[in-house]
Amino acid sequence: MFLVSLIYTSEMTGSMDFMDILEVSRARNEREGITGVLLFCNNNVVQCLEGSRETVNNTYARIVQDKRHQNPLLVDYRILSTRLFSEWSMGYVPESSITQPTLLKYSVSQDFEPRLLSGESCLRMLAELTRKVSTV
Ligand SMILES: Cc1cc2nc3c(=O)[nH]c(=O)nc-3n(C[C@H](O)[C@H](O)[C@H](O)COP(=O)(O)O)c2cc1C
Repeated sequence: MFLVSLIYTSEMTGSMDFMDILEVSRARNEREGITGVLLFCNNNVVQCLEGSRETVNNTYARIVQDKRHQNPLLVDYRILSTRLFSEWSMGYVPESSITQPTLLKYSVSQDFEPRLLSGESCLRMLAELTRKVSTV
């Protein structure tokens, strides 16, 4: 069984209890060998899931049914040789650490438009943001 990573973006349907989502996600991901990172910005969600193909696919299928967000868009799906977020059962990037210089580095403007990012840019941006923050 080999490693894959999946990135999607979606839109929040209302005000989300981030801490509740993180708590449930971390407990379940730890049991299932999933690592990754989650961020919320301008009502958008961006999440990366890493783990076995079967587990990542099943987790994504469950997450997209969740009524707390809508319009999921699969941004990247790839085979991995090494996890990028191995330290996080689900890392969290607070909105305050998503700066305009970082956005400009990975996209055509300094606006946060995850639907316009390539999979590679999105993955690299998540990796940079996660390195910068000490997650809660
Ligand atoms: C934005 C978002 C991200 C989520 N991330 C995860 C996750 O990484 N892992 C996970 O198990 N559940 C995650 N969830 C929660 C799932 O949608 C689901 O509520 C949870 O896994 C419990 O599923 P169950 O009630 O079928 O057991 C996330 C939900 C949302 C809205």
